[in-house]
Amino acid sequence: MRRDQIRTTRFEEQIALYRERLDAFPRVDLAHLPTPLDACANLTVSLGGPRIWIKRDDCTGLAMGGNKVRQHEFVLGAALAEGADCFVQGAASQSNHSRQLAAAGARLGIETHLLPKLDRMSSPIRGNYLLDHLLGAMITPIDPSASTIEAKAKLVEELRAQGKHPYITGMGADDSLVLAAVAYVETVFEIVEALSYDDLPDWIYTASQGSTQAGLLVGCEILGLTTRVLGVCPMDNTHEAYLTTHQILELAHGAARQLGYESALALDDILTTEEFVGGGYGLPTDAAIEAIRTVASTEGTLLDPVYTGKAFSALLAHVRSGRITQGENVIFIHTGGLPALFAYGDLLITGEANDTSP
Ligand SMILES: Cc1ncc(COP(=O)(O)O)c(C=O)c1O
Repeated sequence: MRRDQIRTTRFEEQIALYRERLDAFPRVDLAHLPTPLDACANLTVSLGGPRIWIKRDDCTGLAMGGNKVRQHEFVLGAALAEGADCFVQGAASQSNHSRQLAAAGARLGIETHLLPKLDRMSSPIRGNYLLDHLLGAMITPIDPSASTIEAKAKLVEELRAQGKHPYITGMGADDSLVLAAVAYVETVFEIVEALSYDDLPDWIYTASQGSTQAGLLVGCEILGLTTRVLGVCPMDNTHEAYLTTHQILELAHGAARQLGYESALALDDILTTEEFVGGGYGLPTDAAIEAIRTVASTEGTLLDPVYTGKAFSALLAHVRSGRITQGENVIFIHTGGLPALFAYGDLLITGEANDTSP
């Protein structure tokens, strides 16, 4: 057997073994999977070398797609298995997570409570916040200075007092973050299956608050890939939803344990950068706007201003600085977020980024 055949067989065996384990989780069917992996020939030429692919998790299907649809298959599967009869989530008014949860709740016939912040993107109603309303979520806006974690906990108490069984997702709900990481293991399998074995990635770039990155790392570990996974933070460490590299490592270890093995991933494997946050969470940067325009005009693919635009601006900067070298293969995970484009129209056209008004 040739060496590449041995490797193919090893991948196939590992993938089959871990798919069996993934199939044993309680899971609901929400996402269009596998998502496409686009080879970006024009970008590769315009960047002068590194081969770029975009993993289209913006195409997961439900209510304009995104990474949470993939994650909610596991998170909400667990919620229903525990007897949940309503979902609770809170975040910024343009939260993609909230919109995808509202859509999943609608699909599953489960009441969904959202606690959006009345921030600068909540009025007029547009983008994700508009979709939350159309999807039939029960919406209780909160003050921008309030703690989302505390507001969620208070709502859960009220719902319990009414005899309901609420399930909290997102920040402050560690179990759901681990399951969201479990969901991202499969993405690595899909990538490997879509690529020829000469094209295995040197790098994976993703916008990251933790779970997606942790799951990608576990998927790479399971297959023995030496791929470096860089998580580009959309927020700095003053934000309530920020996770440290220690916490991301814990998510990866937790996901591996759920899949039946002890991970050997160490702190050094958790590569993150906060360099591309700019003025703060939800405030587009000039570099993100450039990234959005570059990918749109070369590949006809849209990125969003809050997550993927900033993550791709890191990729562009690292090609320019030589951190990504000419012959390397790079997968960019498109985690979605596109409805926010329609909330940020003015900023994206005038280029007045880094606006720090509340
Ligand atoms: C578009 C987009 N990308 C990335 C993320 C971060 O995902 P994770 O929390 O799995 O790291 C989010 C979270 O809401 C998102 O909406």
